[in-house]
Amino acid sequence: MVIYQLAPNMKIESTMRPFHFPCSRSSSKSPTDILGFALVIVLCLASSTSSCTDQDKGFLLQFLAGLSEDGGLTLSWQNDTNCCTWEGITCSTDEMIKEILLASKGLEGHISQSLGNLTGLLHLNLSHNSLSGELPLEELVSSSSITILDVSFNRLSGALQELSVQTTVQHLQVLNISSNLFTGKFPVTTWKVMKNLVALNASNNSFIGPIPNSLCINAPSFAVLDLSFNQFVGSIPLDIGNCSMLRVLKGGHNNFSGAIPDELFNCSSLEYLSFPNNGLNGVLHDANIIKLSKLSILDLEQNMFSGEIPKSIGQLKRLEELHLGHNEMYGELPSSLGNCTNLKILDLKINHLSGDLGKINFSSLSNLTTVDLLWNNFSGTIPESIYECTNLYALRLSGNDFHGEFSPSMHRLKSLSFLSAGLCAFSNIRNALHIFKSLRNLTVLLIGGSFMHEVLHEDEAIDGFENLQHLDIGNSMLFGKFPMWLSKVTNLEVLGLCNNQLTGPVPVWIKNLNFLFSLDISNNSFTGEILTTLIQLPALNSGSKVSPLDTKPPELTIYGDSRRQYLTQRALLNISGNGFTGVIPPEIGQLKSLDIALDLSFNSISGEIPQAICNLTNLDMLDLSNNNLTGTIPLQLNKLHFLSAFNVSNNDLEGPIPTGGQFDTFDSSRPIPTGGQFDTFDNLSFIGNAKLCGGMLSHHCNSAKAVPAPASTLSTDQFSDKIIFGIGFGLFFAIGVLLDHMLTSKIRFLQF
Ligand SMILES: *[C@@H]1O[C@H](CO)[C@@H](O)[C@H](O)[C@H]1NC(C)=O
Ligand SMILES: *[C@@H]1O[C@H](CO)[C@@H](O)[C@H](O)[C@H]1NC(C)=O
Ligand SMILES: *[C@@H]1O[C@H](CO)[C@@H](O)[C@H](O)[C@H]1NC(C)=O
Ligand SMILES: *[C@@H]1O[C@H](CO)[C@@H](O)[C@H](O)[C@H]1NC(C)=O
Ligand SMILES: *[C@@H]1O[C@H](CO)[C@@H](O)[C@H](O)[C@H]1NC(C)=O
Ligand SMILES: *[C@@H]1O[C@H](CO)[C@@H](O)[C@H](O)[C@H]1NC(C)=O
Ligand SMILES: *[C@@H]1O[C@H](CO)[C@@H](O)[C@H](O)[C@H]1NC(C)=O
Ligand SMILES: *[C@@H]1O[C@H](CO)[C@@H](O)[C@H](O)[C@H]1NC(C)=O
Ligand SMILES: *[C@@H]1O[C@H](CO)[C@@H](O)[C@H](O)[C@H]1NC(C)=O
Ligand SMILES: *[C@@H]1O[C@H](CO)[C@@H](O)[C@H](O)[C@H]1NC(C)=O
Ligand SMILES: *[C@@H]1O[C@H](CO)[C@@H](O)[C@H](O)[C@H]1NC(C)=O
Repeated sequence: MVIYQLAPNMKIESTMRPFHFPCSRSSSKSPTDILGFALVIVLCLASSTSSCTDQDKGFLLQFLAGLSEDGGLTLSWQNDTNCCTWEGITCSTDEMIKEILLASKGLEGHISQSLGNLTGLLHLNLSHNSLSGELPLEELVSSSSITILDVSFNRLSGALQELSVQTTVQHLQVLNISSNLFTGKFPVTTWKVMKNLVALNASNNSFIGPIPNSLCINAPSFAVLDLSFNQFVGSIPLDIGNCSMLRVLKGGHNNFSGAIPDELFNCSSLEYLSFPNNGLNGVLHDANIIKLSKLSILDLEQNMFSGEIPKSIGQLKRLEELHLGHNEMYGELPSSLGNCTNLKILDLKINHLSGDLGKINFSSLSNLTTVDLLWNNFSGTIPESIYECTNLYALRLSGNDFHGEFSPSMHRLKSLSFLSAGLCAFSNIRNALHIFKSLRNLTVLLIGGSFMHEVLHEDEAIDGFENLQHLDIGNSMLFGKFPMWLSKVTNLEVLGLCNNQLTGPVPVWIKNLNFLFSLDISNNSFTGEILTTLIQLPALNSGSKVSPLDTKPPELTIYGDSRRQYLTQRALLNISGNGFTGVIPPEIGQLKSLDIALDLSFNSISGEIPQAICNLTNLDMLDLSNNNLTGTIPLQLNKLHFLSAFNVSNNDLEGPIPTGGQFDTFDSSRPIPTGGQFDTFDNLSFIGNAKLCGGMLSHHCNSAKAVPAPASTLSTDQFSDKIIFGIGFGLFFAIGVLLDHMLTSKIRFLQF
């Protein structure tokens, strides 16, 4: 073989590129294929100089035998070959197995304790497999030389073994058991006997109880502890203060309570301190915070901390992220915050903070990307210096007492993608829109509930907003007409204009907004026959299905949880409470993408309810009440599996009310749903239609033919999810805040 002869005198690193095969044209293999093959041979030759012992080979084969799915390991794990050449195995020069690196190999089965007998093993990495059963911790780490043990992202279960006090774990430095199914209390002695532990990651399991004290007494080099996403309770142990080398401490998403002990602030090496989503309380003292001079991330979000933000925070020169949102902090921001020149994320949402931001010189905070002040008590105007934070990506000011106008220098925020400035007392919406339009990267603009009682000018001169996808200007009692400039905002997906006093028609060009899938213009004074236009909206039309959100909105916690994030991708048409006229065209049945709600209530819509409305099979809520509708209720409406709210009251409908549908009431194994089945929509859904009969109305249909109930598989879980989604959507437009009318009207709607 030519290749075999070539291989030994190749210098691999230096000859890869210049090496040239003159005959490569006649060969079916490309030069790189052949080189790769040569490389394999060379490597094999090299490693065959050391050969593993039969004993070690036996331990590996025992491990293999414990697997029910070996991910193809048997191909190379052959008894008659040198195990130093086996997939995932690395040997040291003295023929000892040094590393077993088998992450993401699709392994199933259990972890054999025989691996603990490999006397030279330093690194065992089995993460991202589907290994199950218990972890034979004692056998693996007690007398072996394993330094790094990573079994994260598997399905290991049971309690973690309590090692006996006699054991000493001499070598183990890194133990990662995160993202498994471990339960029970964290064993105290196990913790104590690991004398050289540097990093312990037990996150994302189901550990319960308090965390053991005596954390670092035995392991003086302890540096990384991750206990997040478990069910630990109790307070943070005082002797954490002994961990002088501790760099990373993460305990978020547990049930820890009490104050952060003063001792913790003796861990002066801390760079990352995070305990979000717990029940911690107390005050952050100046004298404590100042001791953590190396801190780069401080995350105490969603606890019950009170008091002021300590002034000494300004001395944390390395601070990059400050998350204190969802607490009970009050007082003014210390001006020293302007000294945290590395700050990227400032998250103070949902507290009772107050005062003027003008005290802070934002111009030195040029690294800021996210500022979230939602729902506090800040006042005054927006300081000019904030417009110098040119890396700002998300700015949320909503729900404060800010007033005044936005400044023209705001155009410098070229990276701004998310701006929320609703529920404040800002003024001059015309000026504001002229400034915002120049922010080319703006995708989300939420200014509802600000600029109260102003005039929304039609103003054709506003062009810009090239990338705007979500716009909310609802709840502001604005006067004026439907804004003409929106015709140029061609990427618009979600538009909220509810609860204003806008008049005139909704222009037909709205159907050219190719991506619009959520429109809420409820409670205005719009007129005209809008439905013939809306049925043509491409993003809602099954005929020309456009996938909304091809560019993702900013990946912030801005929408709260993922559920709400998901909601913003659901389709809605709400034109309720206007003066719309005309009939419901049969083409309404083409809006198959509609899923949250179709709300046409409180208008002057006439004619019959078209049969085709029964094609909107994903719909949660359908409200046609308080119009001038005539004719019968399409009996096939009981096909709408997801319908959780339905209202046709106060029209001029006649004939029988559909029955059945939705839930299979004859399935006794399923809990009886609290609503949703057509029969269960109560009277209020139908009253005010003198000629309707059946259902729960006192007016019974004579010789009523019961409409058969097709079986459905909708579970009550799905059902209640839908309701929560519905409420959640209302919350979204209210900018994550319980906004009075919006929410109550949604809830009222749900209670029909
Ligand atoms: C591997 O081969 C040795 C002898 O070469 C034999 O003793 C041993 O049983 C074999 N192991 C397995 C698992 O087949
Ligand atoms: C184990 O392997 C995974 C995947 O390659 C890697 O992400 C992880 O960092 C490794 N663990 C350790 C402790 O090196
Ligand atoms: C493997 O190690 C265990 C202790 O962890 C020991 O009891 C056992 O005898 C060892 N097995 C062999 C074959 O060396
Ligand atoms: C497990 O945790 C260790 C220490 O924190 C870390 O080095 C390793 O990368 C983690 N493994 C994975 C797969 O994330
Ligand atoms: C712990 O493991 C999880 C994965 O389960 C990883 O996301 C996290 O970053 C790790 N923590 C540390 C401190 O390395
Ligand atoms: C927790 O573990 C599950 C299952 O391995 C995984 O899907 C999930 O991403 C993990 N969560 C975190 C926060 O690491
Ligand atoms: C914290 O460290 C200081 C010295 O920096 C020491 O005086 C004090 O006793 C320590 N506190 C605790 C609780 O360990
Ligand atoms: C804010 O800081 C900048 C430098 O970072 C400085 O030039 C400016 O004078 C400061 N402004 C005020 C009002 O202190
Ligand atoms: C907000 O500040 C005003 C004074 O500016 C005060 O009257 C009010 O009580 C504060 N509200 C809260 C919730 O702190
Ligand atoms: C604007 O957004 C685009 C696409 O997301 C990005 O590549 C670009 O860097 C952003 N511009 C600024 C100034 O941040
Ligand atoms: C409709 O808007 C008006 C003001 O424009 C407001 O007073 C009223 O409460 C709103 N109604 C509902 C149901 O939200």
